[in-house]
Amino acid sequence: MKLFILLLTSIAIRGEEIKVETDFICIGNVEHEIDVLKTDLDRPYSLVVDYSTNVLYFSYSLNNIDDVFKTGFINLNTKEFDDLEGVENGFTQTIDQNKHQVYIGTNDGIYRYEHAKKAAEFYALSGTDIWHIYYKDVIYYSIFPNQFFYTYINGDVVKFKDLQDTKVDQFVIDNEDVMFFTNATGLYGQRKGTDAAKLYNEYATDGVRALTTDINGNVFFCRFDGIYTVDKAMASVNKIVDLSDVYSLAFDNVNNIIYSDESKIVRLKPKKDKAC
Ligand SMILES: *[C@@H]1O[C@H](CO)[C@@H](O)[C@H](O)[C@H]1NC(C)=O
Repeated sequence: MKLFILLLTSIAIRGEEIKVETDFICIGNVEHEIDVLKTDLDRPYSLVVDYSTNVLYFSYSLNNIDDVFKTGFINLNTKEFDDLEGVENGFTQTIDQNKHQVYIGTNDGIYRYEHAKKAAEFYALSGTDIWHIYYKDVIYYSIFPNQFFYTYINGDVVKFKDLQDTKVDQFVIDNEDVMFFTNATGLYGQRKGTDAAKLYNEYATDGVRALTTDINGNVFFCRFDGIYTVDKAMASVNKIVDLSDVYSLAFDNVNNIIYSDESKIVRLKPKKDKAC
């Protein structure tokens, strides 16, 4: 069912394909090298990077029919790829950057992975189907299928009061404590501690597939047709690059863009002094 919903959002007009022969792509008037990190993955999703180890975590689909997901990782320094041991059906990931722990939302609660131990263990919320998870000081999560939004703090589940009447699909908090979230209507920004959501853009169809922040806490997101950033002064969005069939988005620990499409994960590295 989750995959079905993801697929629905991917019925998209195929824009111009990125020519693989060209070895760069132009973003913000700078040439960026196209560094393919891994191919032959089925819709890698929920990309997150642990900045201390520069390891990328993500989930991907194991087959086209059922909701069976695997959580994998790629060491961005060595390009080593493997699956995480100890967790099944992880669909959404987030990182506690201070403690270097990865929280993985599955169809049966939250698992926690410690890089040093190289194993995931059950953490909390057995029986809960997690749709989206986000960590900043505490764990925020929405559940499937109703997308109601909660916090998990010291063993207590509490509906998150700022967003208690809202469904939440994707969620991040930026460097100025502004929360960005999406639902079936579109993308919203809302200062933490208030309940006044500002509509940044309506997306009745083909909405936001992933919301993230870069290493400076600035908000970026992807839709099927490329990568965007937000303009808080104007409460609007700006596209920074056209890409084809983007699924998810993250930044590595030196602020390179990492994105996935339906079959691969790519890093975009700016080439110094190469204007375009
Ligand atoms: C999305 O969130 C906004 C702001 O809270 C709300 O007004 C809107 O009704 C929500 N849309 C859906 C479909 O839940």
